[in-house]
Amino acid sequence: MARKAKTVTLSAADKALIAAAIEARECAHAPWSNFKVGAAARFGTRVIKGCNVEFDVYGLTNCAERTAVFAAYACKAAQRKLTAIAVVADTPQPVSPCGACRQVLFECGGADLRVLLTNLRGDVQVVTMGDLLPSGFQLDAQAGAKRARTSRKNAWPYKKS
Ligand code: THU
Repeated sequence: MARKAKTVTLSAADKALIAAAIEARECAHAPWSNFKVGAAARFGTRVIKGCNVEFDVYGLTNCAERTAVFAAYACKAAQRKLTAIAVVADTPQPVSPCGACRQVLFECGGADLRVLLTNLRGDVQVVTMGDLLPSGFQLDAQAGAKRARTSRKNAWPYKKS
């Protein structure tokens, strides 16, 4: 994937998503890294925000992208299809999600999920989840996994629309 940000034309909805991510970044709790990240995910027509949250036990830190996804489950927005997510940080180049967030976003939005990578300077790079995570793990695609998943009640409570 090319790392250089290029000029892209954004729809009003995309601009609003980025604005929501910038707003969410203000809520970041990053006393250890001082690296604030904001995310805004569109589930159906709803925009759910997330920020990174760090703790004294560093491993318990949660990234902005996953905070947004977890918040979407908590308010049932995740019943709708995840179609786009914007991520922003104060970086020279548009910020790029970590590996853990890539897997979570891949599972929620699939390879076609649009990912708007941005920074506070207004550089925007639009990619898909397939670009960021080719061959992401899918439980159903693994031999024997279907049975494992269906045997776990409530593993996936929501119907995807
Ligand atoms: N972080 C995110 O929130 N999202 C990313 O895509 C990359 C990293 C956070 C985790 C941690 O709080 C801080 O940035 C520094 O790693």
